[in-house]
Amino acid sequence: MERILVTGAAGYIGTTLVPMLLEAGYRVRAIDRFFFGENNLPDHPRLERIKADSRRLAPEHFSGVDHVVDLVAISNDPSGELFQKATYDINFESRVACARLAKAAGVKRYVLPSSCSIYGFQAPDVVCNEATPTNPLTTYAKANEKAEQGVLPLADERFCVVVLRQATVYGYSPRMRFDLAINGMTYGAWKTGVLPLMRDGSQWRPMVHVQDTARAQIFMLQADRDAVNGRIFNVGSSENSYQLGPLAERVAAAVPRKVAIEWYGDADHRSYQVGFDRIQGLGWRAERVAEDGVLEIVERLEAGTLDKTKETITLGWYQELIGWQKKIREIEIDGCLIDM
Ligand SMILES: NC(=O)c1ccc[n+]([C@@H]2O[C@H](COP(=O)([O-])OP(=O)(O)OC[C@H]3O[C@@H](n4cnc5c(N)ncnc54)[C@H](O)[C@@H]3O)[C@@H](O)[C@H]2O)c1
Repeated sequence: MERILVTGAAGYIGTTLVPMLLEAGYRVRAIDRFFFGENNLPDHPRLERIKADSRRLAPEHFSGVDHVVDLVAISNDPSGELFQKATYDINFESRVACARLAKAAGVKRYVLPSSCSIYGFQAPDVVCNEATPTNPLTTYAKANEKAEQGVLPLADERFCVVVLRQATVYGYSPRMRFDLAINGMTYGAWKTGVLPLMRDGSQWRPMVHVQDTARAQIFMLQADRDAVNGRIFNVGSSENSYQLGPLAERVAAAVPRKVAIEWYGDADHRSYQVGFDRIQGLGWRAERVAEDGVLEIVERLEAGTLDKTKETITLGWYQELIGWQKKIREIEIDGCLIDM
């Protein structure tokens, strides 16, 4: 029974991936700071939880580990701009250090879930494949690219390294994110009848369902190593490549109420079309499209089992945590508040 170490395991993708790994028969060592809580992972005899910071990983975290999926990150553009140093330290430095520790410990495979956002802005006639020159526009995208460049040279005949450039993810996951495009559109449309669309809607963005990207990660743990070692794969599908305006109309049509579309924000400078021939050439296919994600989210909202809590907006939640820390530091004495 192989053991998979998953960093950032209690995040949006991790809380979908971990149950799928357990279901597939793996042991899982989940490492996370649990910024978004501990309750989004299941209790399971083959799941080990470790509260640790990815910037402080040690050789013992890798003992008995066969493969690593290194999800940990400050996970979006606005958070990356607010916490630039932490974003480089976590998304880049800590992941390269993790890959080095994994290699030294005899781990067989290391998967880096990176992002298609490193393509940044591309001319409208360009469909990016994995060899297309990148154009990372944000701290988040730049840190991902540096992580890719740091881990790929570690690949050799004993240590298999795979980089996945994931499209923007959507769909329900236990650590829910309503700051992702399709999820945010769905919530706004369902709750208020107003769907927020980042202007001006002509920008291209590839998408992938959270279960599909988790399946791609498991696929890479099991694929023929010579076919994947030292390689980069875009993760998504042409069926899920959308211009945001037409996508908003599809989301609005899938939500069971009258919906108006309203622009928000400044002009979005990111626009990229992506091709997925390489991963499809290995036999992997996305199984879902936007409407599948919309419907499963609406179903849970209707049932009252899902809500847009503060934790579901990544940047807002990090700011909230920092606000509490500041407040507590102002009033505590000798580390104590009320009881001393
Ligand atoms: N969600 C997307 O659309 C998307 C798209 C492309 C790539 N990705 C990449 O996939 C990965 C996972 O994204 P996500 O959407 O699950 O993000 P997320 O924010 O939901 O999860 C990140 C997790 O990492 C944890 N974490 C953060 N800093 C930590 C640290 N220093 N030490 C330990 N734990 C820490 C957080 O507590 C959180 O549970 C990221 O690398 C992200 O860049 C995501």
